[in-house]
Amino acid sequence: MPHAPPPQTFKVKSFGCQMNVYDGERMSELLTDQGMSAAAEGEDADLVVLNTCHIREKAVDKVYSDIGRIVKNWGRKDGSTPLIAVAGCVAQAEGEEIMARAPSVRMVVGPQAYHRLPAMLAEAAQGKRVTDTDMPVETKFAALPQRRKSGASAFLTVQEGCDKFCTYCVVPYTRGSEVSRPFSDLLDEAQRLIEAGAKEVTLLGQNVNAWAGEDGKGRSTGLDGLIRALADLPDLRRIRYMTSHPSDMTEGLIAAHGEVPKLMPFLHLPVQSGSDRVLAAMNRNHTVDSYLRLLDRVRAVSPGIALSGDFIVGFPGETDAEFEETLKIVESVSYAQAFSFKYSPRPGTPAATMADQIAAQVMDERLQRLQAALQRSSLAFNQASVGLRCEVLVERHGRRPGQWLGKSPWLQSVHFEGDCAIGDLVEAELTEAGPNSIAGQIAQPVRNRPGPQ
Ligand code: 5AD
Ligand code: SF4
Repeated sequence: MPHAPPPQTFKVKSFGCQMNVYDGERMSELLTDQGMSAAAEGEDADLVVLNTCHIREKAVDKVYSDIGRIVKNWGRKDGSTPLIAVAGCVAQAEGEEIMARAPSVRMVVGPQAYHRLPAMLAEAAQGKRVTDTDMPVETKFAALPQRRKSGASAFLTVQEGCDKFCTYCVVPYTRGSEVSRPFSDLLDEAQRLIEAGAKEVTLLGQNVNAWAGEDGKGRSTGLDGLIRALADLPDLRRIRYMTSHPSDMTEGLIAAHGEVPKLMPFLHLPVQSGSDRVLAAMNRNHTVDSYLRLLDRVRAVSPGIALSGDFIVGFPGETDAEFEETLKIVESVSYAQAFSFKYSPRPGTPAATMADQIAAQVMDERLQRLQAALQRSSLAFNQASVGLRCEVLVERHGRRPGQWLGKSPWLQSVHFEGDCAIGDLVEAELTEAGPNSIAGQIAQPVRNRPGPQ
């Protein structure tokens, strides 16, 4: 197979979580700095980076089918295929296997090594196949270019990795142990994002509320300290964070929800199951009751806060009665939104070898029932918002001409028409609710109002 000439255009395809979206943006910036340009929509690229997810089996299968599709459909007139790089968590976990199974893949780069992409590209251009899945001590962030582009809402990775070792989860193995980025680097990156047009930042981390660092005065601080410092940036209007673990929900962070107006009234706090026995087998380190009491404390300081969660059905040994307990917790919490998954055994995790793996059909039925309950819950939450007035951050054009899409403080997708622009915070009345979005009407244009809210 002849080699392609040095790549000039690239495409980064990210799968999975928001951190992968963030990593994908950073890789695009790196490649742009190498003089390459992003391939236009619908155009074949010289370099394709598949930024992969390893969290569930299906996500992994997708990588191999994507590689096959690229090789099949993207062949060029001169017989060359694009340079294919596999990045992300599948690269980390199965790098060697990918290299053996997919000869068309020329680069494999793990989530902690992608700052080395330019050097790897140089080697690949000479016809070599290159793998880098090291987890270097030096931070990749220092080697990445400064932020120059941003939408109205931007992601900012503040923490990576996980030390919790839930028995079903690959993240501690693919992303490594918990590391927090330094406070001043994060304030700098936030400032750059604001200069590039961001009005909102979502702080990302596999365990974002485990973030710890030293503030500008050398005092130890947690995520709440970082949030308070970010809230002092005058042109930043909204702050969010995800994903959190119940064990790291500190007093200070809960208090921030009542005291920092820029911290949006939304909390993604996965519980995974409504059964104490299953939670213990998952090594979650909390009970149903301690989770519910935590939510009560959050609601006490931020009444009406939108709650979100993740659920797994069909964890090994989960009985019908234990699954019913998960339905019960959904009823009692009234989630505004949530994600739910069928348990997927992941190689190398303790749960993968546990007895009583649940039959696929049972998982299907449970997932359907859970998703129906979660749909009812989000519809009820949205219906209860009808008639409210709130600020909506305009993020993009809608599908219909003249339509805009934005987010309410509670992270609802709001669609509306009117005189505004991307990045505006408009005052809107919420008028009609569906389970996944809500219609609004602009109440009063407040285009780019300066200063804090
Ligand atoms: N099977 C199914 N769902 C999983 N998650 C993590 N690991 C697995 C797995 N092996 C879900 C959890 C987590 C979310 C990011 O993905 O609910 O919170
Ligand atoms: Fe995975 Fe549990 Fe860590 Fe979340 S807290 S990333 S589910 S091990």
